[in-house]
Amino acid sequence: MIRSDTLIPTDSRPGLIFGLAVECQLRTTDAMISPTINVNGTITPAEEARIPVLDRGFLYGDSVYEVFRTYQNVPLFLEDHFERLENSARLIHMRIDQSRDELMSAIRSTARVAGVSAEHPAYVRYQITRGDGQIDLYPEDGLTSRFVVIVKSLPDWKPHLYQHGVDMLVTAVRRNASDALDPNIKGGNYLNNILGLTEARQRGADDCVMLDAGGWVTEAANSNVWFVLNDELVTPASGNLRGLTKKHVHIALKEAGLESAEKDIHVGDLFGATECFVTSATREVMPCASLGLPSGQTLRFAEGGGEWTRLTMKTFSAYIDRYIQAHQADAIV
Ligand SMILES: Cc1ncc(COP(=O)(O)O)c(C=O)c1O
Repeated sequence: MIRSDTLIPTDSRPGLIFGLAVECQLRTTDAMISPTINVNGTITPAEEARIPVLDRGFLYGDSVYEVFRTYQNVPLFLEDHFERLENSARLIHMRIDQSRDELMSAIRSTARVAGVSAEHPAYVRYQITRGDGQIDLYPEDGLTSRFVVIVKSLPDWKPHLYQHGVDMLVTAVRRNASDALDPNIKGGNYLNNILGLTEARQRGADDCVMLDAGGWVTEAANSNVWFVLNDELVTPASGNLRGLTKKHVHIALKEAGLESAEKDIHVGDLFGATECFVTSATREVMPCASLGLPSGQTLRFAEGGGEWTRLTMKTFSAYIDRYIQAHQADAIV
């Protein structure tokens, strides 16, 4: 249950009440970061970056990656990102030849060239491919991994997506089975997600909610999805990437004395959903305005998010402020 003393007035305006986190997401158009890419130590403007055609990341999507954003030059959840990268590599039996220190130093030098500064929050993507080899699916011995670091401005999310919300659709395209392609492999093959998102866009929605073969809710195209069901804040327990935003939203809520849970959620349960939002590194907490169900029915949620959604945005924003203060030493420039 939401405690009444923590409720946010429903007429509050997100840009004003949610503080730094949402403010920054709404202010990305004036950022002064030049899209810059570092391929194995060669730093160029984004459009000049090159990788060999025989790179297995290009040929087969044989790569792993992470994306973080900065606040005042401080990367959000840096340690978690490296742990997840290494876990993704383990899951695909890939050795990363570059040390964390080498990757961090590449990220720092790319960020400096790109013009990242405390005033301009950055999007940082670092990707490790299995390197170049023969055109052969089986990764032969002796391959050397290649790194690519991409630094640019955060995605320019339209204010409408926070003030109104994202329109979502449960698609006919199902999420890959976890025992076929583990969703915890954050890898360079996103075709399943691209197909879900394409169906959603073609049918007039902004994003998809994908089910597994058994009709259990998994996640959105590139974010985790949350619902309020029976006055309880829940997010699917399996079939999805263990999102770092999801992880830290749980922690932030717990620290604030609020409950959230991970549960299996069947598509049939969604009829009772009263709120919905998505979480990811670049969106943070983004409200969902509507959800189209396979029955043809469309659920409509409160403009800019209901009570739980607004409370989660506010709580997570305050948590980020504390995190940034405590991690000044991680600053990348
Ligand atoms: C498939 C998928 N699910 C969930 C997420 C959210 O993860 P995070 O909060 O770590 O960005 C992402 C982010 O890229 C994703 O690609």
